[in-house]
Amino acid sequence: MSPEQTFPLAARLFPERLKSPWWIGHIPFAFELIGRMQPRTVVELGTYSGSSFAAFCQAVEASGGNGHVYGVDLWQGDVHMGSFDEALYQEMAAFTSTRYPTISTLIRKDFNEAAASFAEGSVDLLHIDGTHTFEAVTNDFETWLPKMSDRGVVLFHDINVTEQNAGPAALKFGVRRVFDSLKTNYAHAEFDHCFGLGVLVVGKAPDASVMRLIDEVKADAAKAFFAEKGDAVSKHFESLGIALPQHGSYGNSGDCADVSAAPHAERGTAGQSIASQEMQPTAVAPSHRSLLRRAFDRLRRMVA
Ligand SMILES: C[S@@+](CC[C@H](N)C(=O)[O-])C[C@H]1O[C@@H](n2cnc3c(N)ncnc32)[C@H](O)[C@@H]1O
Repeated sequence: MSPEQTFPLAARLFPERLKSPWWIGHIPFAFELIGRMQPRTVVELGTYSGSSFAAFCQAVEASGGNGHVYGVDLWQGDVHMGSFDEALYQEMAAFTSTRYPTISTLIRKDFNEAAASFAEGSVDLLHIDGTHTFEAVTNDFETWLPKMSDRGVVLFHDINVTEQNAGPAALKFGVRRVFDSLKTNYAHAEFDHCFGLGVLVVGKAPDASVMRLIDEVKADAAKAFFAEKGDAVSKHFESLGIALPQHGSYGNSGDCADVSAAPHAERGTAGQSIASQEMQPTAVAPSHRSLLRRAFDRLRRMVA
Protein backbone atom coordinates (compact mmCIF):
# COMPACT_ATOMS: atom_id res chain seq x y z
CA MET A 1 0.00 0.00 0.00
CA SER A 2 1.21 3.52 -0.75
CA PRO A 3 1.41 6.11 2.07
CA GLU A 4 -1.55 7.87 0.41
CA GLN A 5 -3.63 4.72 0.88
CA THR A 6 -2.36 4.07 4.39
CA PHE A 7 -2.93 7.67 5.53
CA PRO A 8 -6.01 8.78 3.58
CA LEU A 9 -6.98 11.80 5.72
CA ALA A 10 -3.45 13.17 5.59
CA ALA A 11 -3.39 12.63 1.84
CA ARG A 12 -6.81 14.12 1.12
CA LEU A 13 -7.21 17.16 3.39
CA PHE A 14 -5.42 20.48 3.09
CA PRO A 15 -5.58 23.08 5.90
CA GLU A 16 -8.09 25.90 5.54
CA ARG A 17 -6.56 28.27 8.07
CA LEU A 18 -2.85 29.03 8.36
CA LYS A 19 -1.86 31.95 10.57
CA SER A 20 1.65 31.20 11.81
CA PRO A 21 4.43 28.88 10.61
CA TRP A 22 5.58 27.01 13.70
CA TRP A 23 3.20 24.12 14.01
CA ILE A 24 1.67 23.72 10.60
CA GLY A 25 3.98 20.94 9.39
CA HIS A 26 2.11 18.60 11.75
CA ILE A 27 -1.33 19.30 10.35
CA PRO A 28 -1.29 16.22 8.05
CA PHE A 29 -0.61 13.95 11.04
CA ALA A 30 -3.31 15.70 13.08
CA PHE A 31 -5.79 15.08 10.25
CA GLU A 32 -4.93 11.38 10.17
CA LEU A 33 -4.96 10.94 13.94
CA ILE A 34 -8.31 12.66 14.41
CA GLY A 35 -9.80 10.90 11.39
CA ARG A 36 -8.96 7.53 12.87
CA MET A 37 -9.55 8.32 16.50
CA GLN A 38 -12.78 10.32 16.24
CA PRO A 39 -12.12 11.99 19.61
CA ARG A 40 -15.14 13.23 21.52
CA THR A 41 -13.22 15.90 23.40
CA VAL A 42 -10.09 17.63 22.12
CA VAL A 43 -8.31 20.19 24.34
CA GLU A 44 -5.52 22.46 23.18
CA LEU A 45 -3.32 24.24 25.73
CA GLY A 46 -1.97 27.21 23.77
CA THR A 47 -4.15 28.27 20.86
CA TYR A 48 -2.74 31.71 19.92
CA SER A 49 -3.93 32.56 16.37
CA GLY A 50 -5.35 29.10 15.83
CA SER A 51 -3.30 27.28 13.18
CA SER A 52 -3.30 24.00 15.09
CA PHE A 53 -6.75 24.60 16.63
CA ALA A 54 -8.36 25.16 13.23
CA ALA A 55 -6.72 22.01 11.89
CA PHE A 56 -8.22 19.99 14.76
CA CYS A 57 -11.65 21.49 14.03
CA GLN A 58 -11.30 20.83 10.30
CA ALA A 59 -10.40 17.19 10.94
CA VAL A 60 -13.29 16.67 13.38
CA GLU A 61 -15.70 18.12 10.83
CA ALA A 62 -14.24 16.24 7.85
CA SER A 63 -14.24 12.90 9.62
CA GLY A 64 -17.90 13.28 10.54
CA GLY A 65 -17.36 12.65 14.23
CA ASN A 66 -19.19 14.19 17.18
CA GLY A 67 -16.07 15.73 18.60
CA HIS A 68 -15.76 19.11 20.29
CA VAL A 69 -12.52 21.13 20.27
CA TYR A 70 -11.62 23.42 23.20
CA GLY A 71 -8.88 26.01 22.83
CA VAL A 72 -7.42 27.20 26.14
CA ASP A 73 -5.32 30.36 26.23
CA LEU A 74 -5.24 33.63 28.13
CA TRP A 75 -4.43 35.47 24.91
CA GLN A 76 -2.36 37.80 27.04
CA GLY A 77 1.02 36.70 25.71
CA ASP A 78 4.07 35.55 27.57
CA VAL A 79 7.61 36.65 28.27
CA HIS A 80 8.89 35.61 24.87
CA MET A 81 6.00 36.15 22.55
CA GLY A 82 5.31 39.52 24.12
CA SER A 83 2.01 41.04 25.12
CA PHE A 84 -0.86 40.40 22.74
CA ASP A 85 -3.20 42.99 21.43
CA GLU A 86 -6.86 42.24 22.25
CA ALA A 87 -7.46 42.01 18.48
CA LEU A 88 -5.72 38.60 18.42
CA TYR A 89 -8.35 37.05 20.69
CA GLN A 90 -11.19 38.93 18.99
CA GLU A 91 -10.17 37.57 15.61
CA MET A 92 -9.99 34.01 16.97
CA ALA A 93 -13.38 34.39 18.64
CA ALA A 94 -14.92 35.70 15.41
CA PHE A 95 -13.36 32.87 13.41
CA THR A 96 -14.56 30.09 15.70
CA SER A 97 -18.06 31.48 16.13
CA THR A 98 -18.59 31.78 12.39
CA ARG A 99 -16.68 28.78 10.98
CA TYR A 100 -17.04 26.19 13.78
CA PRO A 101 -19.88 27.45 16.00
CA THR A 102 -21.11 24.05 17.10
CA ILE A 103 -17.89 22.09 17.47
CA SER A 104 -15.48 24.58 19.02
CA THR A 105 -15.15 26.59 22.24
CA LEU A 106 -12.46 29.03 23.32
CA ILE A 107 -11.66 29.08 27.04
CA ARG A 108 -9.89 32.24 28.09
CA LYS A 109 -8.21 31.01 31.25
CA ASP A 110 -4.87 29.92 32.63
CA PHE A 111 -4.30 26.22 31.84
CA ASN A 112 -4.42 25.19 35.52
CA GLU A 113 -7.63 27.09 36.13
CA ALA A 114 -9.25 25.69 32.97
CA ALA A 115 -8.58 22.11 34.10
CA ALA A 116 -11.32 22.48 36.71
CA SER A 117 -13.89 22.77 33.88
CA PHE A 118 -13.19 19.22 32.67
CA ALA A 119 -14.28 16.02 34.37
CA GLU A 120 -11.73 13.34 35.17
CA GLY A 121 -11.38 10.86 32.30
CA SER A 122 -13.18 13.11 29.80
CA VAL A 123 -10.48 14.29 27.37
CA ASP A 124 -9.57 12.03 24.44
CA LEU A 125 -6.93 14.22 22.78
CA LEU A 126 -4.78 16.87 24.51
CA HIS A 127 -2.32 19.15 22.72
CA ILE A 128 0.31 20.76 24.97
CA ASP A 129 1.69 23.88 23.25
CA GLY A 130 1.85 26.62 25.88
CA THR A 131 4.97 27.68 27.78
CA HIS A 132 7.79 25.34 26.76
CA THR A 133 10.07 25.16 29.79
CA PHE A 134 10.62 21.81 31.51
CA GLU A 135 8.69 22.99 34.56
CA ALA A 136 5.75 24.40 32.62
CA VAL A 137 5.35 21.36 30.35
CA THR A 138 5.68 19.00 33.31
CA ASN A 139 3.01 20.99 35.14
CA ASP A 140 0.69 20.96 32.11
CA PHE A 141 1.05 17.20 31.68
CA GLU A 142 0.60 16.38 35.36
CA THR A 143 -2.36 18.73 35.77
CA TRP A 144 -4.19 17.34 32.76
CA LEU A 145 -3.28 13.64 32.94
CA PRO A 146 -6.19 12.83 35.31
CA LYS A 147 -8.51 14.44 32.76
CA MET A 148 -7.48 11.99 30.05
CA SER A 149 -9.90 9.26 29.04
CA ASP A 150 -9.09 5.57 28.63
CA ARG A 151 -8.56 6.33 24.92
CA GLY A 152 -6.37 9.33 25.72
CA VAL A 153 -3.57 10.65 23.51
CA VAL A 154 -1.33 13.62 24.35
CA LEU A 155 0.57 15.66 21.73
CA PHE A 156 3.67 17.71 22.64
CA HIS A 157 4.94 20.33 20.25
CA ASP A 158 8.62 21.44 20.13
CA ILE A 159 10.34 18.23 21.17
CA ASN A 160 12.98 18.96 18.53
CA VAL A 161 14.62 22.34 19.09
CA THR A 162 18.39 21.83 19.18
CA GLU A 163 21.30 23.85 20.45
CA GLN A 164 22.93 23.02 17.16
CA ASN A 165 20.17 24.76 15.24
CA ALA A 166 19.10 27.37 17.73
CA GLY A 167 22.19 28.29 19.72
CA PRO A 168 22.76 28.03 23.48
CA ALA A 169 19.33 29.39 24.40
CA ALA A 170 17.83 26.17 23.03
CA LEU A 171 19.16 24.47 26.15
CA LYS A 172 16.30 26.08 28.04
CA PHE A 173 13.61 24.31 26.04
CA GLY A 174 12.30 21.50 28.19
CA VAL A 175 9.83 19.66 25.98
CA ARG A 176 12.28 17.03 24.74
CA ARG A 177 13.34 16.19 28.29
CA VAL A 178 9.74 15.89 29.47
CA PHE A 179 8.79 13.72 26.52
CA ASP A 180 11.82 11.45 26.89
CA SER A 181 11.11 10.96 30.57
CA LEU A 182 7.52 9.94 29.82
CA LYS A 183 7.82 7.90 26.67
CA THR A 184 9.32 4.85 28.35
CA ASN A 185 5.99 4.39 30.16
CA TYR A 186 3.64 4.77 27.21
CA ALA A 187 3.20 3.75 23.59
CA HIS A 188 4.48 6.69 21.59
CA ALA A 189 5.60 8.12 18.27
CA GLU A 190 7.63 11.17 17.38
CA PHE A 191 8.33 13.39 14.42
CA ASP A 192 11.43 15.51 13.92
CA HIS A 193 10.15 17.96 11.34
CA CYS A 194 8.62 21.36 12.11
CA PHE A 195 10.28 21.61 15.56
CA GLY A 196 9.16 18.11 16.48
CA LEU A 197 5.92 16.54 17.67
CA GLY A 198 5.69 13.91 20.38
CA VAL A 199 2.68 11.59 20.53
CA LEU A 200 1.97 9.75 23.78
CA VAL A 201 -0.81 7.18 24.21
CA VAL A 202 -1.76 7.63 27.85
CA GLY A 203 -5.14 5.89 27.87
CA LYS A 204 -5.52 2.43 29.41
CA ALA A 205 -7.70 1.17 26.55
CA PRO A 206 -6.55 2.96 23.41
CA ASP A 207 -8.34 2.47 20.09
CA ALA A 208 -6.86 -0.26 17.92
CA SER A 209 -6.80 2.20 15.01
CA VAL A 210 -4.64 4.60 17.02
CA MET A 211 -2.24 1.86 18.06
CA ARG A 212 -1.94 0.84 14.40
CA LEU A 213 -1.16 4.44 13.47
CA ILE A 214 1.52 4.64 16.17
CA ASP A 215 3.14 1.53 14.68
CA GLU A 216 2.76 2.67 11.09
CA VAL A 217 4.43 6.06 11.62
CA LYS A 218 7.55 4.39 13.00
CA ALA A 219 8.54 3.31 9.48
CA ASP A 220 11.01 5.58 7.70
CA ALA A 221 8.73 5.81 4.65
CA ALA A 222 5.86 7.01 6.84
CA LYS A 223 8.05 9.59 8.58
CA ALA A 224 9.22 10.82 5.17
CA PHE A 225 5.60 11.01 3.98
CA PHE A 226 4.51 13.16 6.93
CA ALA A 227 7.62 15.34 6.67
CA GLU A 228 6.93 15.93 2.95
CA LYS A 229 3.25 16.65 3.51
CA GLY A 230 4.19 19.01 6.33
CA ASP A 231 6.76 20.74 4.18
CA ALA A 232 4.14 21.28 1.48
CA VAL A 233 1.95 23.04 4.06
CA SER A 234 4.90 25.18 5.21
CA LYS A 235 5.76 26.11 1.63
CA HIS A 236 2.14 27.03 0.96
CA PHE A 237 2.14 29.24 4.04
CA GLU A 238 5.31 30.97 2.85
CA SER A 239 3.72 31.54 -0.55
CA LEU A 240 0.78 33.31 1.11
CA GLY A 241 3.16 36.01 2.41
CA ILE A 242 1.19 36.42 5.63
CA ALA A 243 2.61 39.22 7.77
CA LEU A 244 3.10 38.11 11.37
CA PRO A 245 2.07 40.50 14.12
CA GLN A 246 4.58 42.36 16.25
CA HIS A 247 3.59 42.21 19.91
CA GLY A 248 4.37 44.66 22.65
CA SER A 249 6.60 44.05 25.63
CA TYR A 250 5.46 41.70 28.39
CA GLY A 251 6.51 42.09 31.99
CA ASN A 252 10.25 42.67 32.03
CA SER A 253 10.81 41.26 28.57
CA GLY A 254 12.10 44.57 27.20
CA ASP A 255 11.36 45.81 23.72
CA CYS A 256 8.82 44.56 21.20
CA ALA A 257 8.75 40.81 20.84
CA ASP A 258 9.36 39.50 17.34
CA VAL A 259 6.47 37.11 16.91
CA SER A 260 7.97 35.65 13.75
CA ALA A 261 10.34 33.85 16.07
CA ALA A 262 8.80 33.95 19.52
CA PRO A 263 7.01 30.59 19.73
CA HIS A 264 10.36 28.89 19.37
CA ALA A 265 12.16 31.10 21.75
CA GLU A 266 12.02 29.70 25.23
CA ARG A 267 9.03 31.04 27.15
CA GLY A 268 9.14 31.59 30.84
CA THR A 269 6.85 30.62 33.65
CA ALA A 270 5.46 33.74 35.31
CA GLY A 271 7.72 35.00 38.04
CA GLN A 272 10.68 32.84 37.00
CA SER A 273 13.81 34.28 35.47
CA ILE A 274 14.57 33.03 32.00
CA ALA A 275 18.09 32.08 33.01
CA SER A 276 16.81 29.78 35.76
CA GLN A 277 14.63 27.66 33.49
CA GLU A 278 15.47 24.25 32.10
CA MET A 279 15.81 23.32 28.43
CA GLN A 280 16.98 20.59 26.11
CA PRO A 281 18.68 20.41 22.75
CA THR A 282 17.04 19.65 19.36
CA ALA A 283 16.75 19.64 14.76
CA VAL A 284 14.77 22.11 12.90
CA ALA A 285 13.47 22.21 9.36
CA PRO A 286 15.90 24.27 7.28
CA SER A 287 13.14 26.63 6.20
CA HIS A 288 12.60 27.60 9.82
CA ARG A 289 16.20 28.07 10.83
CA SER A 290 16.43 31.76 10.10
CA LEU A 291 13.23 32.43 12.07
CA LEU A 292 14.55 30.40 14.95
CA ARG A 293 17.97 32.06 14.88
CA ARG A 294 16.30 35.48 15.13
CA ALA A 295 14.24 34.24 18.07
CA PHE A 296 17.25 33.15 20.02
CA ASP A 297 19.26 36.24 19.13
CA ARG A 298 16.38 38.27 20.55
CA LEU A 299 16.19 36.06 23.62
CA ARG A 300 19.89 36.46 24.26
CA ARG A 301 19.51 40.24 24.08
CA MET A 302 16.56 40.06 26.46
CA VAL A 303 18.41 38.08 29.12
CA ALA A 304 21.75 39.91 28.74
C1 LIG B 1 3.24 28.64 21.09
S1 LIG B 1 1.75 29.51 21.31
C2 LIG B 1 0.55 28.40 20.69
C3 LIG B 1 0.65 28.23 19.19
C4 LIG B 1 -0.54 27.58 18.57
N1 LIG B 1 -0.73 26.22 19.03
C5 LIG B 1 -0.46 27.65 17.07
O1 LIG B 1 -0.70 26.65 16.37
O2 LIG B 1 -0.16 28.73 16.55
C6 LIG B 1 1.55 29.42 23.06
C7 LIG B 1 0.32 30.09 23.60
O3 LIG B 1 0.15 29.64 24.93
C8 LIG B 1 -0.36 30.69 25.72
N2 LIG B 1 0.01 30.38 27.11
C9 LIG B 1 1.25 30.07 27.57
N3 LIG B 1 1.19 29.73 28.86
C10 LIG B 1 -0.12 29.82 29.24
C11 LIG B 1 -0.84 29.53 30.44
N4 LIG B 1 -0.21 29.08 31.54
N5 LIG B 1 -2.17 29.71 30.45
C12 LIG B 1 -2.82 30.16 29.36
N6 LIG B 1 -2.21 30.44 28.18
C13 LIG B 1 -0.87 30.25 28.12
C14 LIG B 1 0.23 31.95 25.15
O4 LIG B 1 -0.63 33.04 25.39
C15 LIG B 1 0.34 31.62 23.65
O5 LIG B 1 -0.76 32.12 22.95
